[in-house]
Amino acid sequence: MIVRPATVSDLPGIVEIYNVSVTTTATWSEEPQSLPEREAWFATRTEAGDGVFVAVDDRSGEEEVVGFSAYGEFRNPHWTGYRFTVENTVHVRDGWEGRGVGRALMDALIDHATAAGKHVMVAAVDGENEGSVTFHERLGFTVVGRMPEVGRKFDRWLDLVLLQRILS
Ligand SMILES: CC(C)(COP(=O)(O)OP(=O)(O)OC[C@H]1O[C@@H](n2cnc3c(N)ncnc32)[C@H](O)[C@@H]1OP(=O)(O)O)[C@@H](O)C(=O)NCCC(=O)NCCS
Repeated sequence: MIVRPATVSDLPGIVEIYNVSVTTTATWSEEPQSLPEREAWFATRTEAGDGVFVAVDDRSGEEEVVGFSAYGEFRNPHWTGYRFTVENTVHVRDGWEGRGVGRALMDALIDHATAAGKHVMVAAVDGENEGSVTFHERLGFTVVGRMPEVGRKFDRWLDLVLLQRILS
C-alpha cells in the first residue's frame, strides 16, 4: 500500500468508497455522489492547492484505491479570518480498516497542510461514529465540542462532534 497525491484517474475509486459512507451516518449526504460531482470537487481542491491523497494497493500490478483523504476550507472562504484553518475528510475502503491506511492518509494530509502554512485542522465527525472520534484522537486531535441534533438522516437527529489539531 502506498499513499500519494490523487490524480483524476483515482476519482472513480474515491466515488466508490465515498458512496459506501452515504449508506451510513458517517457522512450526512443522502444521495450517492456522481463522478462529475467528484471531478468538480477535485478541480476546486486542486485549484486551491489543498491536499488530496489516495492510498493504493498495487500488489496485483494494477492500482486499486483503498482510501482517500483531503482537506479544504473551514466555513465560508469569503470569511478570510478562517484562512489558516482547514477541515479534513478521510475514508478507507470497506475491508481495509484497521490496517494503518487511515493513519498513513492522515499523516500525508497533516504534512501537506503544515507545509502549506495552515494552523489548525478540524474534523467534524458524526456523534455515533465513535470509531472515527477515537481514530482522530489517536492522530493527535482533541474533542472541542459536541453540537446536539444539528444533523438529520434516516429520520433521526444526529449530533456533530468537533475535533481539532493545532498544526504549527
Ligand atoms: C475511521 C477510518 C478512517 C479509520 O481508518 P483505519 O485505516 O481503519 O485506521 P488505522 O488502521 O489507520 O488506525 C489508526 C489508529 O486509530 C485507531 N482506530 C481506527 N479505527 C478505530 C475504531 N473503529 N475504534 C477505535 N480505534 C480505532 C487504531 O487503533 C489506530 O491506533 P494506533 O495507530 O494508535 O494503534 C476508517 O475506519 C473509515 O474510513 N471508516 C468509515 C468512514 C468514516 O467513518 N470516515 C470518517 C468520517 S469523519
